[in-house]
Amino acid sequence: MSHTTERADVAAPADAATSAADRGLRLTRLHKELGGRPIVDDLDLDVDKGQMVCLLGPSGCGKTTTLRMIAGFLEPDGGAVIIDGADVTDLPPERRPTAMVFQNYALWPHMSVFDNIAFGLKLRKVPKPEIAQRVESVLELVGLTHHIRSRPTRISGGEQQRVALARALVQEPKVLLLDEPLSNLDAKLRVRVREDIREIQQRLGITTVFVTHDQDEALSISDRVAVMNGGRIEQYASPMDIYRSPATTFVGGFVGATNTLPGRLVRDSGSLAVVVGSARVPVETTNLPQGESSVDGDIVAVRPEDVLVGEGGAAASVVRVIPRGHFTEAVVDIDGAEDAQLRAYVDAGALGTAGDSSTVRFRRALVYRDGSLL
Ligand SMILES: Nc1ncnc2c1ncn2[C@@H]1O[C@H](COP(=O)(O)OP(=O)(O)O)[C@@H](O)[C@H]1O
Ligand SMILES: [Mg+2]
Repeated sequence: MSHTTERADVAAPADAATSAADRGLRLTRLHKELGGRPIVDDLDLDVDKGQMVCLLGPSGCGKTTTLRMIAGFLEPDGGAVIIDGADVTDLPPERRPTAMVFQNYALWPHMSVFDNIAFGLKLRKVPKPEIAQRVESVLELVGLTHHIRSRPTRISGGEQQRVALARALVQEPKVLLLDEPLSNLDAKLRVRVREDIREIQQRLGITTVFVTHDQDEALSISDRVAVMNGGRIEQYASPMDIYRSPATTFVGGFVGATNTLPGRLVRDSGSLAVVVGSARVPVETTNLPQGESSVDGDIVAVRPEDVLVGEGGAAASVVRVIPRGHFTEAVVDIDGAEDAQLRAYVDAGALGTAGDSSTVRFRRALVYRDGSLL
């Protein structure tokens, strides 16, 4: 299967940084109101050619609405959809170089796997021998050659999803769109199929937007993640940056577990600490700007793996010890501080039992003001 780069037939606006041919997908101030309120709110997004980007966010934040506007199933109230430098905002779905994979597969039960995949090509009057060749090659790509004559009802959920993927890929789209494609699969299969999708996406080098509400899924398969909230993107960055340096308290709370403390960060004689109530918890690293001796953020956020228990620091009491297999989760109270209960991930067996006196210190703490990282 070839995904050749065609030159856009519409002149792209001049852009110093990237030429039109280098771009994959660009959304500019995309806007949609439904039921009298903005569902997608002046959204900007750039996806580099060949990259896979996840739209990640809670249910109802506007992910599907965004995807439907990219595909052309829904008309935006404002803004533009630009693919490889060509503005496709006014084109109907069938004239856009996009293909979509749906959550519920949407396969025709009475048609064979071959016919399901060939359907779109037949509509477009692609010659029969070419259809056969393209369907076979795409089935090979998703590893389902042996099911070419099967009915979708006779194959497993994971295989059905791969047929749906094949049906999208056979159209050789420039942009592949997937809307929560794995949510009907059980947990183990979900992990395997998402790795398959990532592998195929990278092999073809196809620009892809993958919608999910599952942070684990988003972090593990994307080049970049766009975290959405209320129709807007709160942060757009690499999975590592999203996890390590959440731009907002919303992102920090949605992606991974986090502790938030109503504390103040201080630096004196070179050492850093979070002051919370009458307690002083030592910190190794933070986002406190160089040269500042203290910040009044409203929130200090600490990942559970950055809470060190029993390694010195502020006095604390162990409230609960929860074995989690390869590690132990602990709930600790910082002595002398109210609203300062922390969750910590420590080595399995490293802790005693609930009620023990201990200590806490932080490996890394981030300070937020008005919900944004300082
Ligand atoms: N036709 C519609 N009329 C009114 N509200 C709608 C309509 N379609 C979707 N919505 C609302 O838009 C919001 C975002 O929907 P959606 O894009 O499907 O979210 P997501 O895919 O992130 O879960 C939801 O609150 C939904 O109820
Ligand atoms: Mg949705």
